[in-house]
Amino acid sequence: MTTPHPALQHVAKTTGPPPIHLAKKHGRPGFVLWMEGLSGSGKSTLSKTLAAKLHADGWNVEILDGDEVRQGLSPDLGFSRKDRETHAHRVSYVARVLSRNGVAVLVALITPYESSRKAARTSVGERFTEVYIKAPLDICQKRDVKGLYKKTQSGHVTQMTGVDDPFEEPANPDLVVDTSSDSVETCAGVILGHLKAKGFLPN
Ligand SMILES: Nc1ncnc2c1ncn2[C@@H]1O[C@H](COP(=O)(O)OP(=O)(O)O)[C@@H](O)[C@H]1O
Ligand SMILES: [Mg+2]
Repeated sequence: MTTPHPALQHVAKTTGPPPIHLAKKHGRPGFVLWMEGLSGSGKSTLSKTLAAKLHADGWNVEILDGDEVRQGLSPDLGFSRKDRETHAHRVSYVARVLSRNGVAVLVALITPYESSRKAARTSVGERFTEVYIKAPLDICQKRDVKGLYKKTQSGHVTQMTGVDDPFEEPANPDLVVDTSSDSVETCAGVILGHLKAKGFLPN
């Protein structure tokens, strides 16, 4: 996280995890499901599947998908470690303010650094869970949903996570789903079960 401008330091001191009474005031408290993993691991697919199920149950759902949210939130940022951390920090801020107003927030973001995942957890507070959407690099490369791995091979794309940019294996995820061995439906079901076990969704 960057140090706030001196004129904003008094504000920084007053922002922390959302007070739970605020969430309760708005009825059903929201939550943040933070999904990390390599490009092509299945984050966007699972977030859409989960969003449809949550919508059907009457939730207000917001997907913060790295592919799209970058354009709106971080057009000024690139893919250096510092920029990726700053981007994750912005996403966690938006996730926090939405979730404290009753929104089910589904974050689909590579989040290659453990420091960003930890910071997001701290920022959001207790209604946060981190799920590692796991698939081996060679499977993601075979899927190559966006053609980026191919472009990396030909040198047209650099700083590709898992290839020439790091992906730190999540140290402490609340749940791991393996999309190379389990179907979309199975993984989504496991995640929904996890959200119920956490008390974020009713049983
Ligand atoms: N269990 C699974 N969960 C999610 N996606 C899966 C699964 N099994 C196969 N896939 C496929 O893997 C690809 C994942 O792509 P995508 O969701 O765009 O990944 P990401 O958003 O992580 O870059 C899709 O083509 C999807 O159909
Ligand atoms: Mg995606």
